[in-house]
Amino acid sequence: MIRLEGVSKRYGEQVAVQETTLAFPEGELTVLIGPSGCGKTTTLKMINRLIQPSSGRIFIGEREVTAVDPQDLRRGIGYVIQSIGLFPHMTVEENIQVVPRLLGWPKARSAARAHELLELIGLEPGRYAKSYPKELSGGQAQRVGVARALAVDPPVLLMDEPFGAVDPLTRERLQDEFLRLQGELKKTIVMVTHDIDEAIKLGDRVCVMNVGAVEQLGTPEEVLANPKTRFVRQFVGSDRALKRLSRLRVRELMRPAAALELSASAKDAEAALARQRTVYVTRSGQLVGWLDRRAFAFDPVIERAYTEVSPNYAASEGDDVRQALSKMLSQGVAELPVVAASGELVGLLDLTGILAVTVQAAPDAAEAA
Ligand SMILES: Nc1ncnc2c1ncn2[C@@H]1O[C@H](COP(=O)(O)OP(=O)(O)OP(=O)(O)O)[C@@H](O)[C@H]1O
Ligand SMILES: [Mg+2]
Repeated sequence: MIRLEGVSKRYGEQVAVQETTLAFPEGELTVLIGPSGCGKTTTLKMINRLIQPSSGRIFIGEREVTAVDPQDLRRGIGYVIQSIGLFPHMTVEENIQVVPRLLGWPKARSAARAHELLELIGLEPGRYAKSYPKELSGGQAQRVGVARALAVDPPVLLMDEPFGAVDPLTRERLQDEFLRLQGELKKTIVMVTHDIDEAIKLGDRVCVMNVGAVEQLGTPEEVLANPKTRFVRQFVGSDRALKRLSRLRVRELMRPAAALELSASAKDAEAALARQRTVYVTRSGQLVGWLDRRAFAFDPVIERAYTEVSPNYAASEGDDVRQALSKMLSQGVAELPVVAASGELVGLLDLTGILAVTVQAAPDAAEAA
């Protein structure tokens, strides 16, 4: 856990960070977000003492950072700097080995570690270890920056706009990779961004800053559902109800679906259709289509009367609700069956269920009226 207690940083008259008290929980990723100049980089650099606070105290675990030798301190903290910052005259593997070599690791050990990290970040060591930064794409260079920060397996990682310098598609891929990585590594991470979508996607917690002060710290859900200040409300945007949906998984919002096996009797079908107008049809649990009352009345044999659906008609339980909603709208339906990765029908998601969560997050409409 990292704690800031009443921390300020002043440059003459200019206040970069004012009286900030904050905690970043262990094993979690906290995103610092806010407009340019609000003090994000300053906050980050005070944690690893690249910047000395004007006042206040900072702790990592039980250690006060000012009591630790700065060199020792930084070895326990991986740092990914704004705009990548690879050393241009060093190869990829040399870049990754900077801290291990400073720590006096034997050559073989730091080389092995560099190769292991290249594999972890999806760059084949045989091909990239000896490359120079200028031979890499932006996305590859970003990955190497992350690998370098992870070299000595530090418990804490500070990342300043680590995915800032790449195109949106690459950025999304890097974010996904990074989420997967963090799922395994469980580092204590403070990451800076000024992209609210990135903050919502990656953060266990989001810390919204403005002119040197914290406006709100909370889970993405809390910040989106309940912006504490006018600034936060404006910053997260008027589509925050929709943004919230991108944090929710379909499985969290689905409810049980009425289903009928293809081999069921006409009597069972009648009974099911007496209760509701349509039911889903499965074959050994796998979604194959749906059956509606009218079609069945016309031809009371399930196999003939049911309507087949293509496999991608359904929502996947692991999709986010925003994706599912978009699928619903593009197919012009008010509900979707939900399937597991195996294709098994596991529930249904409907507009009513989605609206129930979005209205909680929409006091803006009332305010505007
Ligand atoms: N060395 C310095 N001397 C004077 N003022 C500084 C110095 N470093 C930063 N500042 C000021 O402190 C404030 C916070 O800067 P900081 O770099 O932390 O912002 P930031 O939130 O990281 O912005 P960005 O999103 O543009 O990277 C800014 O107003 C900046 O101009
Ligand atoms: Mg900055």
